[in-house]
Amino acid sequence: MTVARTLPGRYYADPAVFALEQGRIFGEMWVCVGRAEEVGRRGTFVCKTIAGESVIVARDRGGQLRAFHNVCRHRGTPVCTVPRGEASSFRCPYHAWTYGLDGHLLGAPMLGELRAHGFDVDDAALAPVAVESWEGLLWLSLHPAPSAVANQAAPALADLARFARYRLGDLRIGKTIEYQVAANWKLLVENFMECTHCAPMHPELCRAVPDFRSGLTSQERGAELAGEFQAFTVTGKASRPRLPGLLEEDSHRVRALVLLPNILMLLTPDHVVVLLLLPRGTDRTEVRCDWLFDPGAVANPAFDPGDAVELFDTVNRQDWRVMELTQQSMSSRAWRRGGVLAPAERQIAAFNQFVLARLGDSP
Ligand code: FES
Ligand SMILES: [Fe+2]
Repeated sequence: MTVARTLPGRYYADPAVFALEQGRIFGEMWVCVGRAEEVGRRGTFVCKTIAGESVIVARDRGGQLRAFHNVCRHRGTPVCTVPRGEASSFRCPYHAWTYGLDGHLLGAPMLGELRAHGFDVDDAALAPVAVESWEGLLWLSLHPAPSAVANQAAPALADLARFARYRLGDLRIGKTIEYQVAANWKLLVENFMECTHCAPMHPELCRAVPDFRSGLTSQERGAELAGEFQAFTVTGKASRPRLPGLLEEDSHRVRALVLLPNILMLLTPDHVVVLLLLPRGTDRTEVRCDWLFDPGAVANPAFDPGDAVELFDTVNRQDWRVMELTQQSMSSRAWRRGGVLAPAERQIAAFNQFVLARLGDSP
């Protein structure tokens, strides 16, 4: 028997590897960029970045979800320069070419002249990007003709179907925190896939879920909350009713799921935590963390997600600190061949294989 090895250091530190991942993973697969409710109302839009591309996602006047490259067809300036908002059109700040929420060119100062020279307005729409709302999650794909998100052949994506009773699509955002982490996105995925670091690093988490102290985790079974804990909160108290539709076996349990390429998720009795990893550089990852609740709970005037947020925000910050430290070693000559994976960390080996297969590589 041999001990499995981690990926070599260059996978976390080499800009060439990062560029390849941006193309073959984030530039070809469906990537989750947020929640569909961010563009729930007609006329609302958000700007998201995947694989280095700025993309506008909008709900048009007909209620249809649209996405297009944020690149003016005239001379290339981004037509949208704010992260989100409401609009009936996008007006380019350079020469005022104006596009509808469906991406079509509505007007331009020199349009008559252009037309006289054979310019086709219908051909000047913003370049479309595939967009889908699936399980309430907002997905983009830069692939020219992707199949549906639900068909994405990524390990663990199908797992979510087994937890349909959490009704992820109906939940609402109670709180969002964005983190800038100075570490490679793969370190964050790998960190989420094992809990042997939980005892030394996460005292608050281990108090809530004592099984984590022994590093015991399973996507299948999840882990039991401590006996005195009624919810996955900093106090252990339940400030909200359980999510409707959960089974008895879910009522005292926390489950951790990874949906490749970029979602880390925790299913708890009264809320769901969704972490989205958005790689921005070999050693830079933007992380968006949404705490999702039953819509009835969020609509309650007394709604306060603070007890749920405090617990996992603490865990996040503990993780990011060590991720940033670890990143420093990724370019060390001592890490050229990488390190080893303990038997309890075998899910990481499967993730590494997924990355290698997408890159068409062997380490
Ligand atoms: S670049 Fe957008 S109008 Fe000229
Ligand atoms: Fe952790």
